[in-house]
Amino acid sequence: MTEQLVRPVGSRPRSVDADLRRRARAVIPGGMYGHQSARPLPDEYPQFMRAGRGARIWDVDGNEYVDLMCSYGPIVLGHQHPAVEEAAAAQAELADCQNGPGAVMVDLAELLVRTVRHADWAIFAKNGTDATTTCVTIARAQTGRDRILVATGAYHGAAPWCTPRPAGVTTADRVNIGHYTYNDLASAQAAVAAGPEPAAIVVSPFKHDAGFDQELVDPAFARGLRELCTRIGAALILDDVRCGFRLHLGSSWEPVGVDPDLSAWSKAIANGHPLAAVLGNDAFREAAGRIFVTGSFWFSAAAMAAAVATIRALRAEHAVETMDRLGRELRAGIMAQAAARGIEVNYTGPPAMPYLTFVGDRDHQQASAFAAAAMRNGAYLHPRHNWFISAAMTQAELGRALVATEAAFAAVGEART
Ligand SMILES: Cc1ncc(COP(=O)(O)O)c(C=O)c1O
Repeated sequence: MTEQLVRPVGSRPRSVDADLRRRARAVIPGGMYGHQSARPLPDEYPQFMRAGRGARIWDVDGNEYVDLMCSYGPIVLGHQHPAVEEAAAAQAELADCQNGPGAVMVDLAELLVRTVRHADWAIFAKNGTDATTTCVTIARAQTGRDRILVATGAYHGAAPWCTPRPAGVTTADRVNIGHYTYNDLASAQAAVAAGPEPAAIVVSPFKHDAGFDQELVDPAFARGLRELCTRIGAALILDDVRCGFRLHLGSSWEPVGVDPDLSAWSKAIANGHPLAAVLGNDAFREAAGRIFVTGSFWFSAAAMAAAVATIRALRAEHAVETMDRLGRELRAGIMAQAAARGIEVNYTGPPAMPYLTFVGDRDHQQASAFAAAAMRNGAYLHPRHNWFISAAMTQAELGRALVATEAAFAAVGEART
């Protein structure tokens, strides 16, 4: 991407995007589907993207933005990180999808086992849903039990057992799913007591339900879940798909001092290349070897080479510390802007994965006005989903994002008067 392509945001009509949307409506159900559908977003959001470099992205019409969504999590080192792209290309040149996995699969499994404290083994797949579903399958195979406990409102993927949308889901798909409240150990104990005994309790590193203020984990809750699972012989499954390698170079609960039995990973582990992983401890190794899970592309070597390079670069570049620092600066800047205008906001979550809501904001109207104005001014963030900061963001890009959020607060202030 050359600098010549950079245009002030909004300087170009969205003609390419509009034409692609029109064509998509004819050949893609609903015009688009899933979490990347721009339909529920303000008009300012392009549907189709063209390119990314570091912390900057361009839509198909050539408008440039500072990226505060990072492809909804996969980009952690910045777009097109040179070492990651080189490793993936070198492997792809040999071969990617073959009759057997490449040697890099063993290299990656060894690296993950060295990097993540609770991991004694690894299984690879493609998407986060593959990983969470495989964790659940291993827990059921190990315990001979059916029931799984999840936190109300938590997202663990798009399979029938966990998708948030009911269309096409049967009662049978959900009959073995029970619920507890995040950070409320008594509710998990009550869900267990209601029986039958669960095969697993699934939990995310912090509460990051879309559209709601985020809640960091209470360490006592994490420890309590660990003790509960150990006492009843259930697996503690940590869904690290969204947070993994953004908050800690290891499992996200290592700083809390709590190790799960199984953990699900995807998004950031290969800096945008398609890969997921299930990591587990020795107690679950036998069941993990007994279940049958696979996929035509689960053994592809290029994404595994990208993951090895990603993990090495995360360490070498102190990426977790960088994201935390940048996130703190962004938070300080945004909170100062809100305070200067007397706008009451909640800025929640870890610094590297923040989320902004407006006090008393019904139906996310102010959040949408804020996001739309941020987009017009060159910062790509989201009104109903947590944001992601990559380690590639420079001070200049952070400053540019803050110029956009300043304009966005002004737009919210005007809408209120
Ligand atoms: C916590 C969590 N678990 C699981 C998933 C599912 O991952 P995927 O969309 O790759 O299937 C996601 C995706 O956003 C997620 O955030």
